[in-house]
Amino acid sequence: MTKRVLVTGGAGYIGSHAAHALVDRGDEVVIIDRLSTGFDWLVPAAADLVVADIGDTERVASLLQDGGFDAIMHFAGSIVVPESVADPLSYYENNTVKSRGLIECAVRAGVPHFVFSSTAAVYGSVGSEPVAEDTPLRPESPYGSSKLMTEIMLADAARAHDLTYGVLRYFNVAGADPAGRTGQSTKGATHLIKVAVEAAVGKREGIEIFGEDYQTADGTCVRDYIHVTDLVAAHLLALDRLRDGGDSLTANLGYGHGFSVKEVLQTVDDVAGPIRKTMGPRRPGDAASIVADASKARRELNWQPQHDDLTGIVEDALRWERHLQTRNEATTN
Ligand code: UFG
Repeated sequence: MTKRVLVTGGAGYIGSHAAHALVDRGDEVVIIDRLSTGFDWLVPAAADLVVADIGDTERVASLLQDGGFDAIMHFAGSIVVPESVADPLSYYENNTVKSRGLIECAVRAGVPHFVFSSTAAVYGSVGSEPVAEDTPLRPESPYGSSKLMTEIMLADAARAHDLTYGVLRYFNVAGADPAGRTGQSTKGATHLIKVAVEAAVGKREGIEIFGEDYQTADGTCVRDYIHVTDLVAAHLLALDRLRDGGDSLTANLGYGHGFSVKEVLQTVDDVAGPIRKTMGPRRPGDAASIVADASKARRELNWQPQHDDLTGIVEDALRWERHLQTRNEATTN
């Protein structure tokens, strides 16, 4: 079978990195993206881009039918936790209902493999210990629930049909393609490293630290930041496993150690020069510490991360942010 992958959300942050990585190693790539938060200029030149909503199941079905695809990598979705609390039904529509339609199209067209972008938010609040995959799943936001429901649908569909899947639960994804071809370009991003590098290039006045009274070493929240290149590498390994006839798998993707907000911001200061920080109240819904037990991905996928270095993550994120700024100036002048 041809190695041909449909990448949903392939014009977005993580999807575009995956599309580049697949093209780099010789897979054929077709991207479907409605360009609501993604950009066509992030897509590799060798990939075909279909500008459409994955909820357009007629379009997806006709793409998959006789399209020669042996896999779908599904990144399209909404990702902002507080937004999901304010507007849950749009999250269930966008993340759950549309994923259901996509899985059904895959089954009907006989696409044998499915790799799904899930999240640590399926666990809900956890203690300070690293979280393994067998931790009870108690999502605390519609975002987490919407992703968990897709995990459940995939598992059930795989039991009933000729389908194997990889579910990858992301911790805090950051950084950008070291080759500078793509990076996080979302407008109004809320993620710590993205916000901090935006401040470093002068796109924002500074950054607010959301709470310093947590039960952690310096009082700020601890997260497991993973470089997007390592994250994407695990997707390709998961796909290879399925193509080689391996079993479906659900695995965490993180490095297994965390950094506090203050440590991250100190690293940004070291790399980019000091940014302005203000102390603010806690952000509702933030857990004190969330760190992955990622031993399963290393063991089962032989995943060997190459970018487990916070300074490198920040440098790559900053380089991309500078690139965006130059690009912006070039297009507005
Ligand atoms: N933070 C700040 N100031 C900011 C932005 C973030 O202090 O301007 C803090 C947050 O309060 C939090 C930490 O930085 O303590 C990380 O926040 P992010 O928003 O970068 O990431 P989250 O840990 O909240 O979210 C991540 C993923 C979600 C996923 C969640 C599950 O981005 O998709 O983990 O744990 F659902």
